[in-house]
Amino acid sequence: MDYFLYKNGELFCEEINLQEIAKEFGTPAYVYSKKTIERHINVYKNAFQKKDSLICFSVKSLSNISILNILKEKDCGFDIVSGGELQRALHIKTNPKKIIFSGVGKSNEEILKGINNEILSFNIESESELFRIEKIASENNKVVDVAIRFNPEVDSGGHEYIKTGRKGDKFGISPNDLVLKLSHYIYNSKHLRLIGLACHIGSQIGDLESYKLTAINIRQLAEEIDKTGNELKFLDLGGGLGIPYNSDKTPSPKDLVSIIEEELKDRNEKIILEPGRSITGNAGILLTKVEYIKDNFLVVDAAMNDLLRPALYDAKHDIWNLKQNDSDNKKWTIVGPVCESSDILAKDHEMNASEGDILAIKTAGAYGFVMSSNYNSRVRAPEILVDNNQYTVIRKRESFKDLIRNEVSLND
Ligand code: LLP
Repeated sequence: MDYFLYKNGELFCEEINLQEIAKEFGTPAYVYSKKTIERHINVYKNAFQKKDSLICFSVKSLSNISILNILKEKDCGFDIVSGGELQRALHIKTNPKKIIFSGVGKSNEEILKGINNEILSFNIESESELFRIEKIASENNKVVDVAIRFNPEVDSGGHEYIKTGRKGDKFGISPNDLVLKLSHYIYNSKHLRLIGLACHIGSQIGDLESYKLTAINIRQLAEEIDKTGNELKFLDLGGGLGIPYNSDKTPSPKDLVSIIEEELKDRNEKIILEPGRSITGNAGILLTKVEYIKDNFLVVDAAMNDLLRPALYDAKHDIWNLKQNDSDNKKWTIVGPVCESSDILAKDHEMNASEGDILAIKTAGAYGFVMSSNYNSRVRAPEILVDNNQYTVIRKRESFKDLIRNEVSLND
């Protein structure tokens, strides 16, 4: 459920007519609904009936500091995967004890920054990373809290590029024997403390069966870890819950949490989840103008550099005209101005559209702006946050100056 809806034939975000935003800020432009984000967080939080929980929003899905602030105000923690994301979370004055650091390639600098800020946990993804964190902890005379991210070897379905928990994927540690060997090692380490067990099996998951298997795996592994003497404080089941991009049906956070609570009912640890897409996905749209009509092409002013998902994953986003009109629908291929044949935002999309119309590419809040680039020297779109009957620019449209900011001219 989101707060983008037609009123008298015109598309609104909450109480704001989106034509107003397009007129004031131009297109392409990302628009987010604060109420939708808050609603999704509430749904996650209320889903937990029996267990202590912490929702660590996955910063990579939408990392604008104003958005992170909304989540902080809702008591969320953050799942981060880089020094930059750590700095974003610290910049908005997040309690570091709500930050978990995942990722297979943490550098020395990133580890030290996490240690110095006393984050909740590093989710360790390899034996080498464990030794590296221990070394840095020892050099700095610290005891560092860590979790082991294990690889549950389940196939979460969905696109190849976004599966992470299968045997042979680069993420997490497997087999379980290695996890237990490392648990023993940590128990005896003066500089590490094992406080969690974590996993993340993929993204846009439409089937709760893989979560159920994961919850069973995490329970069994936690029982084995108990025997190594470590006292786990949290079990982290990652993010990944799918959302409807068209009319597809996906499970709700409530369904997900009830499976987790059932499978882990005999465990006492806090449950951590790391949702990204299911919080911000349908809270954002990308506004774009139809520049030209050519045969069955709608050539719009947004492109693959603004929204990469269709070109990269063949992702299907629904697209609505701000002026509701279902008569004279035609099938269009909607393309952007970038000089690549893969710059297609939608294929065979049925709608009524004319040159000059403004369209809303839906469900673009997660992995939308954050994956945008300057390819073809296109400036990045602005981000605008709607809160009821007000709106604020939370990131300005880039300018030519921004484009060349870090370039050095040999002629100067
Ligand atoms: N935790 C970890 C360790 C992750 O790697 C991810 C996403 C999440 C949580 C959040 O997953 P979510 O709830 O958003 O599914 N760019 C792709 C998605 C890549 C996901 C990467 N990891 C897309 O546009 O579909």
